[in-house]
Amino acid sequence: MSGVFITLEGGEGVGKSTQLTVVREHLMQSGRDVLVTREPGGTPFAEAIRDLLLAPREEAVSGQAELLLMFAARAAHLEQRIRPALARGQWVVCDRFTDATYAYQGGGRGLPQEEIAVLERLVQGDFRPHATILLDAPVEIGLARMQERGAPDRFEREQAAFFERVRGVYLARAAAEPERFIVIDASRPVEEVSAAVRGALDALLERHA
Ligand code: TMP
Repeated sequence: MSGVFITLEGGEGVGKSTQLTVVREHLMQSGRDVLVTREPGGTPFAEAIRDLLLAPREEAVSGQAELLLMFAARAAHLEQRIRPALARGQWVVCDRFTDATYAYQGGGRGLPQEEIAVLERLVQGDFRPHATILLDAPVEIGLARMQERGAPDRFEREQAAFFERVRGVYLARAAAEPERFIVIDASRPVEEVSAAVRGALDALLERHA
């Protein structure tokens, strides 16, 4: 496998979509062959699972069913899109990956981290991102930005306490794996955040020259 796998993570309203564009453009300007994709999703089948997961519904959804669907989508995405792109030597930039499962299903929903780890091993083996950019901001800032957007999906309907737990797990994972994570303070003005993202990418480009 010769490509580089970068994931972008963060809570709601941290400016992930804006920074995804920054990442794509910076890597392309540096001459890299880039594939941008997302989770849950990334293949037609996995996008259908995404629709199922994000649609608001009356009934309570089983946390375990939600967890299994996240990994079902990931298995399809990895096999059909991510691994082939890396094998071609592409730089794959993924809007969320397994850290989101630890944060949302583990932190937010309270599912045991060990159960997630079992599925991670089953679906991914030793496969992990080369680098993960975590856009971090206090929950109230993210939620205020989120409210400016359209109709909330099933996750966006959660309460602030849910997103506090999500943020807590992201930060704990970043602290446990400082060599993989780049934590960027996303509460600053967007130009400063973009500059920090470009700086992080320059370090990665040098490492994987
Ligand atoms: P997005 O809004 O960033 O596109 O992500 C869709 C939602 O899916 C977001 O609220 C986070 C959630 N999610 C999980 O709960 N677990 C996961 O493993 C992934 C990839 C996303």
